[in-house]
Amino acid sequence: MSDDVRVAVAAESDVLAARQEGRRLAAAAGFSGSDLTIIATAISEVARNIVHYATRGEILLRVAHLDGRPGIVVVARDEGPGIPDLEQALQDGYSTGGGLGLGLPGARRLMDELEVVTELGRGTTVTMRKWTA
Ligand SMILES: Nc1ncnc2c1ncn2[C@@H]1O[C@H](COP(=O)(O)OP(=O)(O)O)[C@@H](O)[C@H]1O
Ligand SMILES: [Mg+2]
Repeated sequence: MSDDVRVAVAAESDVLAARQEGRRLAAAAGFSGSDLTIIATAISEVARNIVHYATRGEILLRVAHLDGRPGIVVVARDEGPGIPDLEQALQDGYSTGGGLGLGLPGARRLMDELEVVTELGRGTTVTMRKWTA
C-alpha cells in the first residue's frame, strides 16, 4: 500500500525507530494515553523477534478503519527461518531463544487482532490490528 510507513529492522536501534513511528501513527489515528504505550510495546516485541530470530526484516504501519472506527495495522515480516511450531510459539513461556516467551502471546493480548503466517525456511509475517474505542 502506498501510504504505508515502512521501517527496516536489523538492529535494536531499528526496534526503537519502529516503536516511535508506531506511536506517532497511532496518535494520528486517534489513539491516546495508555493505548499509545500498548501499541508501541506490541510493535517492540515483533520487531525484536525479527532482529533476534530472522536477523532482518521490516515493519509496515498504516492507519485503517473498521466500521468507521480508525485504527492501526502493523505488519512485521521477515524472510528468516520461520516458526517450527506456531501453536507453541503463541503460548506463554515458550522460547527457543532463552527469552521469556511472552512476546507473541503478549502482543496478541495487547492488540485486538494478531495473525501469524509462517513457513519454514521462508519467513514469518505477523499482522496485528487495534481499533480505537
Ligand atoms: N520472526 C520470527 N522468526 C522465527 N521465529 C520466531 C519469530 N518470532 C518468534 N519466533 C519464535 O517464537 C518463539 C516465541 O516468541 P516470543 O513469544 O516473542 O518469545 P521470546 O522472543 O521470548 O522467545 C521464539 O522463541 C521463536 O522460537
Ligand atoms: Mg520475543
